[in-house]
Amino acid sequence: MPAPRGFDSGRSCRPNQQDGAESDRKQHLVDQVCSGAGGLCIYKGRDMKTTHAGMKISEAEFGALIGDLVKALTSFNAPSREQQELLAVLGPMKKDIVEYP
Ligand code: HEM
Repeated sequence: MPAPRGFDSGRSCRPNQQDGAESDRKQHLVDQVCSGAGGLCIYKGRDMKTTHAGMKISEAEFGALIGDLVKALTSFNAPSREQQELLAVLGPMKKDIVEYP
């Protein structure tokens, strides 16, 4: 499944593995966000700490991904209340993903 228009996390994150697993990873990200948003999706990927361990992801990189997500949601006219609800689900994941300031 292609990334939603405007959701260009690849620009602000490290390149993904260029192997057959890449589409699984994308699907996992979609399922994770979908289930966090209360959608009818089941996330079957690894936990966030294991997945991102050793990637040395910074606060700025995490913020860039959230920024891209907000841009994509806004481009689809998602109301700000729902955007805030989704960010409230994703925000607490920061402690498992970010490894340094
Ligand atoms: C709220 C923020 C984030 C969420 C919800 C999230 C979620 C995910 C999910 C669900 C996966 C797939 C796990 C799997 O397939 O088992 C993944 C993989 C990955 N994420 Fe994140 N992520 C976030 C932030 C970031 C950031 C900020 C970066 C880098 C700047 C990043 C880099 C990666 C990379 C490179 C992979 C691929 C790992 C692999 O192929 O082994 N993520 N992420």
